[in-house]
Amino acid sequence: MTNKMWGGRFAQGPSAIMAEINASIDFDRRLYAQDIAGSKAHATMLAKQSIISKADLKAIHAGLDQIKTEIETGKFKFSQALEDIHLNIESRLKELIGEPAGRLHTARSRNDQVATDFRLYVRDYIDQLDAGLADLQLALAQKAEAHAGTIMPGFTHLQSAQPVTFGHHLLAYVEMLSRDRGRFADSRKRMNENPLGAAALAGTSFPIDRNMTSKALGFDRPTRNSMDSVAARDYALETLAAASICAIHLSRLAEEIVIWCSAQFRFVSLSDKFTTGSSIMPQKRNPDAAELVRAKPGRILGAFTALAVVMKGLPLTYSKDMQEDKEQTFDALDNLALAIAAMAGMVRDMEPNKDVLKAAANSGYATATDLADWLVQNLKMPFRDAHHVTGRIVALAEKKSCLLSELSLEDMQSISSGITKAVFKVLTVEASVASRTSFGGTAPVNVRRAAKAWLKFPKGK
Ligand code: ARG
Repeated sequence: MTNKMWGGRFAQGPSAIMAEINASIDFDRRLYAQDIAGSKAHATMLAKQSIISKADLKAIHAGLDQIKTEIETGKFKFSQALEDIHLNIESRLKELIGEPAGRLHTARSRNDQVATDFRLYVRDYIDQLDAGLADLQLALAQKAEAHAGTIMPGFTHLQSAQPVTFGHHLLAYVEMLSRDRGRFADSRKRMNENPLGAAALAGTSFPIDRNMTSKALGFDRPTRNSMDSVAARDYALETLAAASICAIHLSRLAEEIVIWCSAQFRFVSLSDKFTTGSSIMPQKRNPDAAELVRAKPGRILGAFTALAVVMKGLPLTYSKDMQEDKEQTFDALDNLALAIAAMAGMVRDMEPNKDVLKAAANSGYATATDLADWLVQNLKMPFRDAHHVTGRIVALAEKKSCLLSELSLEDMQSISSGITKAVFKVLTVEASVASRTSFGGTAPVNVRRAAKAWLKFPKGK
């Protein structure tokens, strides 16, 4: 059987394997709501421009509404022979309303139709991701406020560097997520132009009103070039790039949670809600959700790469290659949304073990920089000399297996005679974090203020 939607010049139907490779209905059925919204806007515009009659418009709208209900209640019969969501819906519309269905496709092609559907879908998904990211920021900022003064070691090279606060550490992620939201918002802004009316590639001779359909579909304006309209997929690429960077950020926090939960670190605890047990080792509590969030960049970067390779070198305008844009994008966005939600759950669930964190902050001579700074400020030593003197004092503490604050004044003076007992005030981790009041620094007063600012404008930044 030839395709009943476009089979006019075909004598035979496609081979089974052709039908299989050609069909996209198994995955593009997801676009049904966008496809129906696009068709309704198109039909309304056609009627307004007197290209179709009011009676046709009424029938088309009623038929499309019924199809939507059929799809949403699981009654719609999708057919592979009808290739994709566009032809499935149009064919059913024909069954339902007869001849007027054939007028819907006036001044339109599946090329501008799919471009419109996909833009709408990605755009609306960005709004959903933004809400998820805002919620994750909220969870982080709340925990940060609660732990603005909880001291932990800050790391460079995963070596104890300087004491910081747990709240400060969490707010670092709030900043990253804020930039992620900015990238999605940029992408959304550029993509929010309406390709509908570009028709196959050259525009149309019908007196259509593209501003009208733009407005109806929430686009800012029509796209300016009909060829670009049907050929462009950079909006999906850009969104996948933003998704990749966001997934990378989430994976860094996920990795930290995995490390922090380990028996060797014990920095935080996760409850049963976000961990699993081992089938053989009864003592284990595995941070599976964090591990899976850590893994997600694999498929999300994979989606970006896959679509970039599809688009690379593709001549203008539409080619069927571009049908491969959807599965990857859907998979990436679904998995990012899931990872964001899982991360928000884990952040709310996670409890820092304050004693362990503080003990860890005290080990590794994390206040050595404070000692060096004290030598500079009080003995007017050049920083390089102070660094050297501090190194020798650390070596002495190491030899005596004690903290810097546990050395005696004589020990200190044996290395640098000018040191006074005032030095002991800066050697505790509490004093160290409290002193970091520079803008953006880890002092609890700063962290509390920053957390409060985020909590006040959770949507704003
Ligand atoms: N299923 C197609 C896609 O996803 C729709 C566009 C088909 N256009 C065409 N000229 N065959 O790309």
